[in-house]
Amino acid sequence: MSLTIGVDIGGTKVGGGLVDENGNVLATARRPTPADDQAGVIQAVKEVVDELRAGHEIEAVGIGAAGWISSDRSTVMLAPNVSWKNEPLRDKVTAVIDLPVVVENDANVAIWGEHRFGAAKAHRSSVLYTIGTGVGGGIVVKDNLLRGTHGVAAEIGHIRSVMPGGRECGCGRTGCLEQYASGRALTRAARDGAAETPAKAAVLLKLAGGDPEAITGRQVTEAARDGDEVALAAFDSIGYYLGNSAADMVNLIDPGVILIAGGVVDAGDLLLDPIRKHYQEALANRAQVPVAEVRAAELGSKAGVIGAADLARHRDIVP
Ligand code: BGC
Ligand code: NA
Ligand code: ZN
Repeated sequence: MSLTIGVDIGGTKVGGGLVDENGNVLATARRPTPADDQAGVIQAVKEVVDELRAGHEIEAVGIGAAGWISSDRSTVMLAPNVSWKNEPLRDKVTAVIDLPVVVENDANVAIWGEHRFGAAKAHRSSVLYTIGTGVGGGIVVKDNLLRGTHGVAAEIGHIRSVMPGGRECGCGRTGCLEQYASGRALTRAARDGAAETPAKAAVLLKLAGGDPEAITGRQVTEAARDGDEVALAAFDSIGYYLGNSAADMVNLIDPGVILIAGGVVDAGDLLLDPIRKHYQEALANRAQVPVAEVRAAELGSKAGVIGAADLARHRDIVP
């Protein structure tokens, strides 16, 4: 049995998995992500790896990280929502664990996991969105991860075809998809809606103790399940931008499937239905010829860990 470790560095936790060559996760470990403490993040990765490797022969470690990763899979060059700049993550981790390490974008490792072992397995080309703090993108074309010239392809969250000149984004531009379609955008739409039309946000406001600014993402999902109009409109709003973006991906990539992943997809059809509705509308005549289905990712929060572990295993052959 060949074992590798996949690690997902998220905003709140560093999660790892011991993974075999069939994508089975045999054990998991996690540590909280220390805020604004880059040495602490390396330490957390080390602890997760040490816990998982005890008693096993490990070949390599793959790390998924939010941000723009260099084409040699070593460095987080820039990260719109994290304080990393030219962070030599691979070498720092290698120094403390003494195993081969590859670093890849968090959404890229997720689509790779889904492509190899999950909801995109049946297709040679696929697109994945992660909807969380930011909006991440992963694209596989003909069984290859689309990484581009500099390693930074598939940054779908920073495409701004829907709203040039709109809201400011952490990447330094304005109007990026991420500002309209992330988990944060969902909460923001709900807060704005509750402030403007409190009568239509009765459930939401009750959950938030009456203060629109106190509304959380989870409450938006809960209120939408209860039929709260403002909460449903917030889902419709992010669904609008995601559906339109997905239709653009059809024109660009013609994928076999489009997957939605990330924390917000726990809302299930509350999120998927509006995306599908706006996707169909945006496709217009394009929907008269074969077109990708929009589905939830299958491996859930494990996709990144599984994908990162698989990329580490195939580090010499997968471009
Ligand atoms: C970053 C991506 C990342 C995504 C999700 C975006 O803001 O640019 O690199 O994949 O957030 O974490
Ligand atoms: Na990506
Ligand atoms: Zn941006």
